[in-house]
Amino acid sequence: MTGHGELAQPYWGIQRLTSFPKRIIWEIQSGNRYVDLTAGGGGMVFERSKFQAVHGNDRNAYAAAGFQTANIIQDRNCSLRQFQEWAAAIYPTNIRRVTDGYLSSLPTTERDRFYPEQLTDEIREYVDSLCQHDPMAAYFTTRVLMDELTVRCRAWDKDSPISGSNIDLYNRVTRIARTWFETLESRCPITGTNESAENCASFIRPGDVVYTDPAWPWDPSQDVGGIDQDNPYDFLTCAAGSILKQKHIRPDGIPFWLAKNGPEPIWDDVAKWVRAAFEGGAKSFILSTQGTNWPAPDLTMHEVAERAGANLSHYEYAVAATRRSGTKFTEWFGILEGK
Ligand SMILES: C[S@@+](CC[C@H](N)C(=O)[O-])C[C@H]1O[C@@H](n2cnc3c(N)ncnc32)[C@H](O)[C@@H]1O
Repeated sequence: MTGHGELAQPYWGIQRLTSFPKRIIWEIQSGNRYVDLTAGGGGMVFERSKFQAVHGNDRNAYAAAGFQTANIIQDRNCSLRQFQEWAAAIYPTNIRRVTDGYLSSLPTTERDRFYPEQLTDEIREYVDSLCQHDPMAAYFTTRVLMDELTVRCRAWDKDSPISGSNIDLYNRVTRIARTWFETLESRCPITGTNESAENCASFIRPGDVVYTDPAWPWDPSQDVGGIDQDNPYDFLTCAAGSILKQKHIRPDGIPFWLAKNGPEPIWDDVAKWVRAAFEGGAKSFILSTQGTNWPAPDLTMHEVAERAGANLSHYEYAVAATRRSGTKFTEWFGILEGK
């Protein structure tokens, strides 16, 4: 359990749903759909699907695959019998074996910190076979690896080899899948995309309330990595994305915001997203960041509004506490409206 209901996925940085202020929840409720541009673990997307139609987007293929999987299950109106058929087809001795998949065939020279060294050859081959079997199997398999083998989804945990065998992996994959098949029937429609947020006009529909809590850099003064730290989301994007998509995804191809490049590109990018959302017909745009992020939240709210030509009609912060250590931090929310 992640604390966000059984559907949210393990993901570092996940927001506490209880920290969303009332005014922000009202705004979200007023939308035809709740659209999250950078949905990450999807806690809020899945939570809102209890009440209204939702759309989750993320540039990270793994994050996006969660919403796309939910959509497949809902679209097929999946029954328990269909689940059983699917589960039987991916059983280790039934599945079509792939021997030259991504994990099995990546040359040793290209195996870096994103490659899960701790898996045995047998499990690598089964993971590749599952990922190439169908999008649902690919998602649940990657999810089990992230759940079992990572340190807060920021690095592979060298001390945590996947225990047991292919059957063990199979059991974990089908256990989560079954919960999804059982839960999604009673939810409102869930859709998903794997786009860069600047392309949001392609999936936003008139009347949607759009939300984003992007991968801000951490405040360099509060992190041991200082100004040269990597963006914490590169691990998930590269490690999980490569396994799921069965292709080599590396940070060079994915520009993350870095504190050392200054705040201007960050504000300009988010302003572009806001403009694109209003072009797509968004009713309003909710921007969220935390006090531990950089640039400073209150300044960011105003800078983005000005650069987007939008009206910052409301902003506030709530005090939240981290789930692990209970350390307090602030969560900021701003509501932008077209002028
Ligand atoms: C802070 S996390 C979102 C966490 C989410 N609110 C939750 O509670 O689980 C930020 C996400 O932004 C995504 N992201 C960063 N830049 C993006 C971009 N240009 N387009 C789409 N997604 C992006 C990252 O992949 C990451 O999943």
